[in-house]
Amino acid sequence: MTDSQTPKRTRISLLLNDSMVGQNLRVCGWVRTFRNDRFLAVNDGSTLHNLQLVVDKETTHSEILKQLHTGAAIEAMGELVESQGGGQATELKVTTLRILGGADPDEFPIQMKRHSLDFLREKAHMRFRTNTFGAVFRVRHALQYAVHTFFHEGGFYQLHTPIITGSDAEGAGEMFRVTTLDLDNLPRNEDGTLDVTQDFFGKEANLTVSGQLEAELGAMALGQVYTFGPTFRAENSNTSRHLAEFWMIEPEIAFADLQDDMALAEDCLKYVLTYALENCAEDLAFLERRELDAEKQLPQAERHEHPLRSRLQAVVDAPFEHLTYTEVIEVLKNSKPYKKKKFKYPVEWGVDLQSEHERWLVEKHVGGPVVVTDYPAGIKAFYMRTNDDGKTVAAMDVLVPGIGEIIGGSQREERLDVLKRKCAEFNIPEEHVWWYLETRKFGSAPHCGFGMGFERLVMYVTGMTNIRDVIPFPRTPLNAEF
Ligand code: 4AD
Ligand code: MG
Repeated sequence: MTDSQTPKRTRISLLLNDSMVGQNLRVCGWVRTFRNDRFLAVNDGSTLHNLQLVVDKETTHSEILKQLHTGAAIEAMGELVESQGGGQATELKVTTLRILGGADPDEFPIQMKRHSLDFLREKAHMRFRTNTFGAVFRVRHALQYAVHTFFHEGGFYQLHTPIITGSDAEGAGEMFRVTTLDLDNLPRNEDGTLDVTQDFFGKEANLTVSGQLEAELGAMALGQVYTFGPTFRAENSNTSRHLAEFWMIEPEIAFADLQDDMALAEDCLKYVLTYALENCAEDLAFLERRELDAEKQLPQAERHEHPLRSRLQAVVDAPFEHLTYTEVIEVLKNSKPYKKKKFKYPVEWGVDLQSEHERWLVEKHVGGPVVVTDYPAGIKAFYMRTNDDGKTVAAMDVLVPGIGEIIGGSQREERLDVLKRKCAEFNIPEEHVWWYLETRKFGSAPHCGFGMGFERLVMYVTGMTNIRDVIPFPRTPLNAEF
């Protein structure tokens, strides 16, 4: 759109202070409001803030003014001047105005009034044009940049693990099948079972639930690696914290134990929170006000005690609490909701913690992040290292207020004989994971890692309460529109 005559487009984020006052500029964006036939508020996505454009009726064609409605895309040229009105430092005195794409005001779904998040989920193709989603997706970008920076500066290599895989790393059986077979005419063996040898890969294949097993192979040579990719889980749980397609960050480190793993997780979380606080101040301030507004409708007890940014800063400033699973069960059994029979799910050693337990622990008991370690072997994955007690594994989950589990990790079982026993116990045929077992046969070493759900991180930082509102196009049961 730039020829030798027209100046380059200047992004609005660069124009809001007075450093460019007096310059003639070209600005493009979408109209947020148009009032008094004169003032246009234009947003181009580079910042939360709109630039005010002042249109002169004498010089601007009346046909153009007629077509100016909320949602239209425009291009304007003019001089940046100090603003006459309050509310903004600068404004653009428009000399030429062009409508690039109109928006029929009777049909354009996004108006200046506050829309409910439910409504905007139905309009996910347009919700980027609201202040809330602009802020959320700018923060999401900053967080992924911070994650990459944290690991790069820490000497990690990003490893691209496969999206199509034959293995079920977590053993939860929640995989999406990948096939090119004709579903209406499936090839069968003589005994009626599916003849998978005729499928694309000659064997069963799925979308990955985790890049961990492959990341371990990388770590056992490169020393420190991490993955940051999409993961897929066909869990039929329609909750505000589960997606069928989500992004996960999985570091894996060699020559390290559970203590190192927990320290890495805490450092990582604190680094990315600090980065967001320092680099997304305006968007976070907006999201903080949004949360305060939204919580006005809630009873006092359900509102946050502290505003968003103070909560994040408090996490950065204090060391994380640590409790073993066994201690957590004790604490839960002595808790008020347990004694008053308020928990829906049982609290029993050996039974997995449910969201209600995790949230009580972090929100009511500790009031901040908690690292829970040493879970019973039976409720965790096959690859976790067996502790000396023989009953628990060297696992750690990081739980945070409002979300519950944000990180799950462990030291890995590096002893070949123990790992083979675990495979048998978990009904994992050795021939399915022969390559994984070989890392324990040749130059095995203590190593560990964790997985951080990226959308849960974005929820945590933005204060958004539904995971569908922190990923551009959510995939959940019965929902794959857009
Ligand atoms: O605890 P999970 O299942 O652990 C793993 O996948 C390990 N392989 C990680 C590792 O050690 N390398 O998942 C890790 C994190 C969870 O703590 C949670 O934040 C997120 O991934 N997560 C989900 N996020 C959104 N939707 C889902 N359905 C999720 N399932 C897990
Ligand atoms: Mg987990």
